[in-house]
Amino acid sequence: MPKPIMTIFHLSDVHIGEPGVEVADFLKILDGVENKAKDVTAPLLLITGDLTSEGLREEFEAFHEAVEGVDIPMVIVPGNHDERNYGTAHFEELFGPRFTRHETEDVALFAVDSSEPDNDAGHVGRGYYPQIRDFFGLAKNKIKILALHHHLLPVPHTGREHNVVEDAGDVLWTLQVSRCSLVLNGHRHVPWIWRLNDMVHYTTGTLLSRRIRGATTQVYTRIELTRNEATFNLVAIDGAERILGRSELIV
Ligand SMILES: [Fe+2]
Ligand SMILES: [Fe+2]
Repeated sequence: MPKPIMTIFHLSDVHIGEPGVEVADFLKILDGVENKAKDVTAPLLLITGDLTSEGLREEFEAFHEAVEGVDIPMVIVPGNHDERNYGTAHFEELFGPRFTRHETEDVALFAVDSSEPDNDAGHVGRGYYPQIRDFFGLAKNKIKILALHHHLLPVPHTGREHNVVEDAGDVLWTLQVSRCSLVLNGHRHVPWIWRLNDMVHYTTGTLLSRRIRGATTQVYTRIELTRNEATFNLVAIDGAERILGRSELIV
């Protein structure tokens, strides 16, 4: 198998502040990520939202303190829990823009904030479709990745669907015409891979929340990208790993 051109440590739904979620566990996981990142090409720490439980200042500060010393390029977007109590203000102050880009020679990643204040459902908004199209349009020969908190396609075994992004159809169309290769999100707390035409959609699990579903456990995902394949490795809190699946990537 060819050497990966990028390794994404995809964390989501940390939920600092939720009863039972320990900052010490988060620090231990980040330590493990930093160690693994030393041996890989182009590591990226991607955190797709729900950093906090209630969007409160003290929760954001605890999260920020935990990640600020991590010496890996980082992309962070907020989730619906971070938008509670107008947490957006704290997010922007501590982490910067809610819409960001990350590019290497081989990969172009666009991260969007799909959350809205005091609304658990997701929404990207048509104002952002041209930005996504333009960004991916300039990244023709790269692996094109969209990262966001909410899912665009329903995830099985997560109960009744009620908060897929409200403009999912238009976002999916925008991604399809932009030849997006991979969508990375969280929110459902259950890891799952879908393929839709030429696109792979990956939902990672919750890192630390007690609100897991069925037989799933708390995990993050180490995603190894080669030019034409993504391998999704689930990593448990104790460091144990297993491959959830591999998907062909269309560039
Ligand atoms: Fe969550
Ligand atoms: Fe969420």
